[in-house]
Amino acid sequence: MTLEYTGANWNIPEDDFTQSFYEQNLSQFWRPEDISLQPDLNVWHVLPEEVKLAYAQNLQVLTFLDTYQGDIGMPVVSRAMAKEFHQRKAVLNFMGAMENAVHAKSYSNIFMTYMSNSEIDELFVWGEENENLQKILEAIVKHYRNLDKMTYERNYTMNGAFDSKAFDKALYKAMVASVFLESWLFYSGFYYPLWFYGQGKLMQAGEIINLILRDESIHGLYVGRLSTLLLETMTSDEKEEMKQFTHDLLYELYELEIALIEEIYDPVDLSHDVKIFVRYNANKALMNLAYEPVFEYEEVNPVVLNGLNTETKTMDNFSMKGNGYQKMISEALRDDDFYFEKPSIGKK
Ligand SMILES: [Fe+2]
Ligand SMILES: [Fe+2]
Repeated sequence: MTLEYTGANWNIPEDDFTQSFYEQNLSQFWRPEDISLQPDLNVWHVLPEEVKLAYAQNLQVLTFLDTYQGDIGMPVVSRAMAKEFHQRKAVLNFMGAMENAVHAKSYSNIFMTYMSNSEIDELFVWGEENENLQKILEAIVKHYRNLDKMTYERNYTMNGAFDSKAFDKALYKAMVASVFLESWLFYSGFYYPLWFYGQGKLMQAGEIINLILRDESIHGLYVGRLSTLLLETMTSDEKEEMKQFTHDLLYELYELEIALIEEIYDPVDLSHDVKIFVRYNANKALMNLAYEPVFEYEEVNPVVLNGLNTETKTMDNFSMKGNGYQKMISEALRDDDFYFEKPSIGKK
């Protein structure tokens, strides 16, 4: 009898890194509702319209990326793992849940605090109709869809007709797309909230962005580790083909990123700076995939690095900057919360 079903046995590590990523992921779990955004409103309401628009459009880009990373990116990579890798699947599934239920939800919380319903509706229409954003998503999501299709074929093709080499390539390509999204594409959107945060403004939204960034950085690292393991199983010709694919996708995305950055950041005169930050993070994504950087080293705006640097920050009462984020104060519901005085109209 062949063993069809196996249980997740955490007593036997699947490799030397998955359980550490598991610990790290769970230890940094957080909830969108933990962070009250009200303290930002006095700053938000006096910002010029073009600044508000650029800020909101960036969070909209981030919303789209997180939505698809949660809807399809992480779940598909998880399902593609060989069936005995229950721990890897658990870690990927946990990450996938964070994308949608925590990260995308947090951007919506920012919108709901800062903006009116009609402004939010308009913003989502902007995202849906934005050609560059749609093209960026297509360039990423098509690799997830292809892997999804091949995973289905792997699981349900009879008589050994399944091509495992082609499957591995599809898996590798989806992982490259995933690392590019996590470790690179997010950063053009992160730039603006970090730019404010580094100057002590819109601090609560900045705390949210830092929490998201902390998650995305381990997501990119983890999928990067899995991708290099897979690459090691390939022949040198296949490795060369995958390297070529990685660089082709990088330049395709870079061109789309540049167009999107100019559209969002030109009105606030920051495109030049954001492009430097984006090249800096493209190099970091390549390193997560164990490739050499392709862009020359450039100095990143120190204000943004200040916004990024959550570990060395100490409390500063003048700028309101601090390591701990301000949690929303809530209390448990009690029976008498539902006791309402009876209306006394018409009665004595
Ligand atoms: Fe995310
Ligand atoms: Fe992520």
